[in-house]
Amino acid sequence: LLKRISFTVNEQEVSMEVDVRESLLEVLRNRLGYTGAKKGCGVGECGACTVLVDDTPIDSCIYLAVWADGKKIRTVEGLAKNGELTEVQKAFVDEGAVQCGFCTPGLIMTTTALVERGEKLSREEIKRELSGHFCRCTGYKQILHAAEKCLNNICKSNE
Ligand code: FES
Ligand code: FES
Repeated sequence: LLKRISFTVNEQEVSMEVDVRESLLEVLRNRLGYTGAKKGCGVGECGACTVLVDDTPIDSCIYLAVWADGKKIRTVEGLAKNGELTEVQKAFVDEGAVQCGFCTPGLIMTTTALVERGEKLSREEIKRELSGHFCRCTGYKQILHAAEKCLNNICKSNE
């Protein structure tokens, strides 16, 4: 069963027919070419597929594309403007929070959403907020440092 849906991805209007069984991740990666969001587990456990839906981080592998109708989707491709990384992206680079990079887009999107919420978070609260993301490489310490750098108002998102 196909259904026509309309939404925005990184401020671009999209109108397309999707199979009602397709995930948002499949549509973004396979049909629209936004390969920043990664497919790790495919079952909502690892956070590699995280994108923002109306500014809230979601696991796009378990989010049906039809649910995106009328919504604002943001992926990691939409963050840097004119080749300039956001402060969140820079913090991940500066703190060495990237190794293979597979988990990075998801973590960047969740951290961006936290920065935009504008709340001051303790280290424990940041850990809780990022607990839906698995990283097989970094040991999490550098990721935590990067997130803390942003969330302690040392940096702000470009948005
Ligand atoms: Fe979506 Fe793992 S691929 S949570
Ligand atoms: Fe490799 Fe996180 S940097 S999984």
